[in-house]
Amino acid sequence: MSQVADHSVAAPPSWLGLGGARVLVAGAGGIGGACAAAYAGEGARVAVVDRDPAALAALAAAHPDVEFVLLEADLTARGAGADVVGRAVVSLGGLDVMLHAVGINDRRPILEFTEEEWDHILRVNLTSVFGLAQAAGRHMVAQGYGRVLALSSVSGLLAHHSHGPYAASKGGINQLIRVMAREWAPYGVTVNALAPGYIETPLTAAHLAKPGKRAELESQVPAGRLGTPDELTGPALFLSSAHAGFITGHIQYIDGGRTLV
Ligand SMILES: NC(=O)c1ccc[n+]([C@@H]2O[C@H](COP(=O)([O-])OP(=O)(O)OC[C@H]3O[C@@H](n4cnc5c(N)ncnc54)[C@H](O)[C@@H]3O)[C@@H](O)[C@H]2O)c1
Repeated sequence: MSQVADHSVAAPPSWLGLGGARVLVAGAGGIGGACAAAYAGEGARVAVVDRDPAALAALAAAHPDVEFVLLEADLTARGAGADVVGRAVVSLGGLDVMLHAVGINDRRPILEFTEEEWDHILRVNLTSVFGLAQAAGRHMVAQGYGRVLALSSVSGLLAHHSHGPYAASKGGINQLIRVMAREWAPYGVTVNALAPGYIETPLTAAHLAKPGKRAELESQVPAGRLGTPDELTGPALFLSSAHAGFITGHIQYIDGGRTLV
């Protein structure tokens, strides 16, 4: 019986070593979606959670070659973090990396906000990080390895006008990840934040479309331009890799120099 030689050449494993990693991404939007695709491109198995089924469907449609585990959940619901992490662990067969890329903004002066509006933004942007990262951290601490990442923002450092609840939520993330990083470091679990400047995604589209707004924002960036979601993926992949095992509690600005001026 003749045998057909297999001339296919396997792609060399990436130096990042994320092949086979079990990754949960919260947020199928501009940044979460780009990072989910980047993890999958490294050979990771990726679950994505979002409250919006259209965002999940759009991500899957944009990457027909990737078998994402798609999870629909509102992360503001009580117990959602534990529920979602539990579902991801079952679907992926474990969990090595969790990236939180869910957030909303409401650009108005602080004097205009009601308590309910404040509560909602803090619950979406900050409390959901606590819930998801705590559940992921329980799993990772027990297994002695893990990578937790959350999207902060330059607004967590700078006092942008009309960003009161958003800025407070991002400043809260900065401190939350630092305490998690300290508490979980003995167990091989690192916790870091990615803090972008303005990135073109659905979150910023309406704001950037206002007359003169794009030019005004670009003029505040030493690089002279806004960022793209793809510019978040390299830092996310690196901080999720085994190479970043001694980097924890950092807020990595990805902002074209915005926080320098
Ligand atoms: N785009 C930027 O310029 C920028 C800058 C700095 C920081 N960030 C941060 O990056 C993260 C991702 O932002 P993006 O630009 O990709 O936004 P995006 O709007 O494109 O995506 C956010 C996703 O979160 C989902 N979501 C919102 N509320 C949810 C909830 N309660 N439960 C589950 N899913 C929910 C939305 O459906 C959406 O798909 C956010 O934390 C944001 O604050 C973005």
